Amino acid sequence: MSQSIEILVADDDAEFSRVAAQRFIKILEVRDHPLVTLPTGYTPLGFYQALITDYGQRHDLWDGLRFIALDEYCGLSADDERLFASWLARTLLDPLAIKSRLLFDSAADPQQEMVRVRSLLHEQGPLDVAVLGLGGNGHVAFNEPGTPFTATIHTVTLTTGTIAANALYWGGSERVPPQGITLGIQDLAQAGSTILLVKGAAKAEVLQQTLQGPVTAAIPASYLQTIKNVTIIADRDAAARL
Ligand code: PGA
Repeated sequence: MSQSIEILVADDDAEFSRVAAQRFIKILEVRDHPLVTLPTGYTPLGFYQALITDYGQRHDLWDGLRFIALDEYCGLSADDERLFASWLARTLLDPLAIKSRLLFDSAADPQQEMVRVRSLLHEQGPLDVAVLGLGGNGHVAFNEPGTPFTATIHTVTLTTGTIAANALYWGGSERVPPQGITLGIQDLAQAGSTILLVKGAAKAEVLQQTLQGPVTAAIPASYLQTIKNVTIIADRDAAARL
């Protein structure tokens, strides 16, 4: 495993959220107008709540933060509740009054959107901070197994597994759009700091493969072994095989 990966193991949900929030804040404090990407999903919910409750008044941090979307479904209208952008707005960005948001336009032509956001990221990037979740198959954002590490922003057809996982959020797989758009591994690998949040026994094996297995596109998250300044925050169940 890379020497620059730090692993913090939390005993319970409260500690997980507190440790994740403390680590994130510590990174933000030494950066000026950081460009930050953040994940959707169940794993970060307590972390987001801790940011709002414990650091909600840190306007010095939130006013300067530049948020960039990690991934998004394609083909949804701007008022659709399933948009990751809407979910993140409700869950974190609105409560913290983070105004600077570089989002994917789900309703736009995906190929044109890919080109548009690539060029914005080129101008405004690279990422300062990437906070990520880990998919059960080793995906990060919508970078599914097999995605080359050289990929930048691209569109994807979601795998059956990812559609099944996302069906839990929206009450059925027929409610999950089949196509997505995502930052690529190359974009994520350029982040100055990376925090990977992992919870639950179901992620124990894939977390072990991510950190201790071969660096391979078959486990997209294994790119983390090749970059600097990575912090893994895991609960005991997820860390059980490390
Ligand atoms: P989860 O999603 O936090 O809901 O488990 C993680 C992911 O698939 O990226």
